[in-house]
Amino acid sequence: MSRRKIIIDTDPGQDDAIAILLALASPDEIEVLGITTVAGNVPLELTKKNACIICELADKSEILIFAGCDRPLSRPLVTAEHVHGKTGLDGPTLPNPRMELEQQHAVDFIIETLRAEPSGTVTLCPLGPLTNIATALEKAPDITNKIAEIVLMGGAYFEVGNITPTAEFNIYVDPEAAEIVFTSGIKIVVMPLDVTHKVLVTGPRNDAFREIGTPVGIATAEMTDFFERFDKDKYGTAGAPLHDPCVIAYLIRPELFSGRHINVMIETKSDLTLGMTVADWWGVTDRPANVTFINDVNVQVFFDLLTERLSEL
Ligand code: BDR
Ligand code: CA
Repeated sequence: MSRRKIIIDTDPGQDDAIAILLALASPDEIEVLGITTVAGNVPLELTKKNACIICELADKSEILIFAGCDRPLSRPLVTAEHVHGKTGLDGPTLPNPRMELEQQHAVDFIIETLRAEPSGTVTLCPLGPLTNIATALEKAPDITNKIAEIVLMGGAYFEVGNITPTAEFNIYVDPEAAEIVFTSGIKIVVMPLDVTHKVLVTGPRNDAFREIGTPVGIATAEMTDFFERFDKDKYGTAGAPLHDPCVIAYLIRPELFSGRHINVMIETKSDLTLGMTVADWWGVTDRPANVTFINDVNVQVFFDLLTERLSEL
């Protein structure tokens, strides 16, 4: 497979952090053109700092990191400290970063990069609310045809919701942005809770991270230790769900994942079901398919891949 050029758009978050580590550990398959940060799990001041912390943990301080939008398009920001802790990266003790952020706004970096690179060669990987991506599409509609693909974490159908009874966090935080992205006509692959809730860091998988013995392996074990308590309490599951790493694993080993090409629309009006991904899984409407909605993954091969790659950092 050829090496894919990607921009990771993210709100770290422990699972975002592990996604970034997986991408940085996979240079044969993935070239990270830049990391753009957005407000989400925690405010932008922390997500941009956390992106730097993770790149330094991986000893990759040459990665370009940009600060983006500090609030959703038209709503107040909702954050998730109840899941990720007050820093967004609670769990390990990691040093304050020394690397500097780029001066350019994340949205302008996305636009300029897509304009500069050959059409159809850059994949966008949103791991948080879709505010930066939607803002770029609104500001520079010409980039729509230049994007190879968007592979994003967000939404749910069978799992319904995690931040409300009917909405997944990333879509709920900025449903207007999600609507812009989902109706853009761009090729989109969605990693909803339906698949990410299968990717659980059980005790033995956590031990395998720790046994790598490096700062990356130990920090990954400590992050998932912290992050798991929320899902264990809430769902009674066996460990932390690795939502965002599904996006990067898909780029490396797409054959591990399966789903359906279906129509998905975003609820933006109802107070009760705001941010719901209304997925026509059963094909009961004639609305045209706009996304590939993933619902399954080979979980053990996923963890073998992740553990092996993390051990290379
Ligand atoms: C998504 O929300 C965040 O809490 C995680 O980082 C992930 O991107 C899961 O709903
Ligand atoms: Ca995230």
